[in-house]
Amino acid sequence: MPKSSSNILAMKLLRRNSLKNLLLLFTLVFILYIFGVFHHLFETNFYDEFHYPYDGDIEVFVEKLKHNITPDVKPINMYNYNFDKNPSFKCFNIENLRLVFLVKSSPENFDQRIAIRSTWGFERRFSDVEIRTVFLLGQKNNMILQQSVDEESRRFSDIVQGNFTDSYYNNTFKTMMGLEWASKYCSKASFYMIVDDDYYVSTKNVLRFIRYPSNYPDYLIHPMTNIQILLKQRHIQQLDDLELPDDARLYAGYVFNSSPHRHMTSKWYVSLTEYPYHMWPPYVTGGATLFSQIALIDMYYASFYTKHFRFDDIYVGLLAYKTKIEPCHCSEFFFYNKAYNKLNYQYTVASHGFKDPKELIHVWTEQKSLGNA
Ligand SMILES: *[C@@H]1O[C@H](CO)[C@@H](O)[C@H](O)[C@H]1NC(C)=O
Ligand SMILES: *[C@@H]1O[C@H](CO)[C@@H](O)[C@H](O)[C@H]1NC(C)=O
Repeated sequence: MPKSSSNILAMKLLRRNSLKNLLLLFTLVFILYIFGVFHHLFETNFYDEFHYPYDGDIEVFVEKLKHNITPDVKPINMYNYNFDKNPSFKCFNIENLRLVFLVKSSPENFDQRIAIRSTWGFERRFSDVEIRTVFLLGQKNNMILQQSVDEESRRFSDIVQGNFTDSYYNNTFKTMMGLEWASKYCSKASFYMIVDDDYYVSTKNVLRFIRYPSNYPDYLIHPMTNIQILLKQRHIQQLDDLELPDDARLYAGYVFNSSPHRHMTSKWYVSLTEYPYHMWPPYVTGGATLFSQIALIDMYYASFYTKHFRFDDIYVGLLAYKTKIEPCHCSEFFFYNKAYNKLNYQYTVASHGFKDPKELIHVWTEQKSLGNA
């Protein structure tokens, strides 16, 4: 073979190889990109420099808004939905309203709402504790469905419906509608719980939890040991002295300290433009979140000065962070389905995965008869 043609062949091979290598490299880079590796490289450290619009101290604005004074800086975030349905009289003239359930539901989930009204959302569960329950709904573009919702609303007067589209990425609208409704029409309750309609909730354990959030369920498990040590340590005479004070800002549930998903195929993918930091603020994972009155109202007004975010639990976490409310973690709020047996739900406050109303009624009734719900 002449020298030149072997050279050409070698070059061809080389070129083919380098093309192959280039292709390989490109594929690798692309895969790393999809998996979010480069995103991570360009993330900003949350602990070093976190700011999220509005950039400034918003607590002054919150205080002003709470007292009906117009702040100097215009709000940067206003939700412009309307209440299509508003049972505004729900909380009128109730002395000592202890707990309000704000249940995130969807227009078509009639059966789940029926089950909740007769189980954990039952307003007359305790003769000496005032409880109220409302359901938060958006709109589905379906007239027949809406007629049934209208009918249900006439019958039970517990539907709060906004004129935004009821969809997963509009969840923040729904949660914020709950905060707005509570702040405007039901602002005197001691506690509020925002819960999804596919949860089991033990009403009894919620009430136990809110008495001693930092010692739940310890004070139930070791009533005579732990608590007495604690009382001694803190030079306190009685258990009642440990109760959560009325002005406490409680934002409680299962707390996550986690990072944004940068994996591009993820349902929870978040771009750097949308959120540049390597961590979320600590937040109560969605599904079941408890607020004391002041926490809820502060966070509602904080939303006027906090840029919208499409994941509602993250958004509420941002509101808490900006108003300096520290989330309170309790592992008895199960954001997943805690496998059920008769004996292991004694201290459970909430558990996910009860889409089937029959299952909810069964578990709740059984736990109620055991004194746990
Ligand atoms: C909801 O109602 C408000 C106020 O009437 C209106 O400005 C807004 O466009 C409505 N939104 C939708 C999606 O219909
Ligand atoms: C959220 O609701 C608004 C108002 O109804 C609607 O315009 C928008 O398309 C909805 N977004 C999603 C993601 O469904």
